[in-house]
Amino acid sequence: MIALMRTPELGVADPVAISPDSPPGDWPALWQHMLRARADPTHAPIPGTRLAADDGGWRLVGACSAASTAWFEVYKPLLDARLAQARANSAAANRAKPWAVAQLGQSLDGCVATAAGDSYFVTGPESLVHLHRLRALCDAVLVGAGTVVADNPLLTTRHVPGPHPVRVVLDPAARLDGSARLMHDATAPTLWLCDGRHADAARARLEAVAAKGAAADCQLASGEVPAATQRHGKGDPQAPQTTSERAVARRAVGVDAASPTVAAHPMVEVLSVDGLIDAADPRRGPDMARAVAALAGRGLRVLLVEGGGVTVSRCLAAGVLERLHLVIAPVIIGAGRRGLQHPGPARMADCTRPPARRMVLGDDMLWDLDLRTAAIANDSAR
Ligand SMILES: NC(=O)c1ccc[n+]([C@@H]2O[C@H](COP(=O)([O-])OP(=O)(O)OC[C@H]3O[C@@H](n4cnc5c(N)ncnc54)[C@H](OP(=O)(O)O)[C@@H]3O)[C@@H](O)[C@H]2O)c1
Repeated sequence: MIALMRTPELGVADPVAISPDSPPGDWPALWQHMLRARADPTHAPIPGTRLAADDGGWRLVGACSAASTAWFEVYKPLLDARLAQARANSAAANRAKPWAVAQLGQSLDGCVATAAGDSYFVTGPESLVHLHRLRALCDAVLVGAGTVVADNPLLTTRHVPGPHPVRVVLDPAARLDGSARLMHDATAPTLWLCDGRHADAARARLEAVAAKGAAADCQLASGEVPAATQRHGKGDPQAPQTTSERAVARRAVGVDAASPTVAAHPMVEVLSVDGLIDAADPRRGPDMARAVAALAGRGLRVLLVEGGGVTVSRCLAAGVLERLHLVIAPVIIGAGRRGLQHPGPARMADCTRPPARRMVLGDDMLWDLDLRTAAIANDSAR
């Protein structure tokens, strides 16, 4: 554990280090209790539990190591958000504000990838574990289309115990070709989020890719597993394994099992959102508040926005983020892809200084920013 100088005037807590290879001895049990709180926020306390909920949300019961206590505080807002949703009655829950955290791993000079789009890896292994913990505690993880093109990500929780989130690809104008791995690996329900005017094109593309895939599958030797499903899909213990488990996972996000697209792709659906793109000014970015509301309408109320820089900046500008996790790695990228992009004010005195907590993640530093009181004037990213 490393303790650095406290700067109380900024509300910055002491940084605490944690390594995935040698977590504090009490962390695995605490993490399991956090997963249980995630799955059933109203569960009654059980003997030996380390968590209890009261009006202030979740709190630790009994003594915990300093590192586990500090990490609990980082993840507590996600658990509290779920608790607040669960406490509301169902009618009120439908009106409750969704909750979102964004995460970016960036260089010292503020880039999330090289100019060519390479982001493997900006940050270190400890930061990857932290990211997967965030995924495990959220209903859904959302990425922009640019990230899907550059990274072809899986967005699973393979580095930690915990459920995979629903995966959401924000692609307002349906510019993707439908071949991304996460649309075909059947590991977790996946939503392709498009403006209503482009949704049919996305569905048609999915069906075309499915038809091609079916033809290719016929050519595979008996028992051979397509590469994209080897590590996740059927071989992944955290993925739905049976037809009925996949049906349950689909129902959890209201995926319409009767639609022809779903018949071909049992875990993916095009989610059509009217007005996602401003018809009067299509060059403006997507309406992020509308996107988040559409996900909340599917019961996806605790969200992780995982990049890239354009998408996180749009969320920040739209005021839909409660927290921002910036993980800064000791690397200089130069002319790379930017993380946060916003014009900002002319005077330092007018710049936003949100309350922050620092945590050491191996060689990286996590800045956990509380945006609830931070007003960020930003219109250029839209
Ligand atoms: N280090 C990290 O934490 C992290 C996390 C995620 C991603 N990344 C990296 O960030 C980069 C992507 O981020 P980003 O900010 O550029 O984009 P993004 O936020 O992932 O996606 C939105 C951007 O992608 C564009 N886009 C839409 N369809 C596209 C297509 N078919 N091909 C290419 N671009 C398309 C959008 O343009 P329109 O608005 O015009 O449609 C918009 O500018 C990648 O290099 C990825 O590796 C890093």
